[in-house]
Amino acid sequence: MQNMKLSAPDIIAKKGVEKITMLTAYDASFARMLESAGVDMLLVGDSLGMVVLGYDSTVPVTMAEMIHHAAAVRRGAPGTMLVGDMPFLSYQLSKKEAIANAGRFFKEAGCDAVKLEGGREVCKAVRAIVDAGMPVMAHIGLTPQTAGKLGGFKVQGKDAQSARRLLKEAKALEEAGAFALVLECIPDGLAKIISEELGIPTIGIGAGVSCDGQVLVTHDLLGLFEKFVPSFVKNYINLAPGIKKAVTSFTTDVKDGSFPDDKHSFPMQIDPADIFK
Ligand code: KIV
Repeated sequence: MQNMKLSAPDIIAKKGVEKITMLTAYDASFARMLESAGVDMLLVGDSLGMVVLGYDSTVPVTMAEMIHHAAAVRRGAPGTMLVGDMPFLSYQLSKKEAIANAGRFFKEAGCDAVKLEGGREVCKAVRAIVDAGMPVMAHIGLTPQTAGKLGGFKVQGKDAQSARRLLKEAKALEEAGAFALVLECIPDGLAKIISEELGIPTIGIGAGVSCDGQVLVTHDLLGLFEKFVPSFVKNYINLAPGIKKAVTSFTTDVKDGSFPDDKHSFPMQIDPADIFK
């Protein structure tokens, strides 16, 4: 399927008309496959840190790592709206630094939008980046960069007080200029209320069917990340066992000399004796 690259206004226009899809990508090969499958948006998530770089959390991820991978995704998927995830402490210190770091995603990696985590405390950064001309996707609920503050990787907004706070934060982020809002790990009924109260689309992950769109970590969807799989993830295919089986077969074939066979070699067309002449 061939994509028509969407813009932030196109994503807003889909609200109430058509569900929105977003998947994570971290390299050019995957980006190419996801683009040809017709995903609306690709997110170079800071989940990069855990899924690809082997960190225990998203906190250590640097701007340099994000830009390096975002640029690779752009090369693989030139025709898909690309969202770069701003890593921890790249947007909290000052508006100036938030704009400069967001700008790197656009200038150095060719992104079309950035995403950042947080509620009221990040509204100033959202406004500053939007005013500088860059679309911002916000992210509330379970925010992995500050999961420690939230008591770990837990469902958020379960009681009336925290549900009320999340609704207020969602509205504040829309007011600050965000074009879309990721809702991570909140009850489906709360996600429905937030989605109905906002003019911008909500993109859910562990937030139920009423969101305006859905995002998943691609490696989870494909069964490629075995360290842990959140309960809200649907494994559309389980690739890891097949990959391990293929690699075991390669190892066996190399050890017993059955690979490479004639079919996978280049026959020499000269007399070996000629080399020693
Ligand atoms: O980093 C990421 O992949 C994300 C998504 C899970 C929304 O933030």
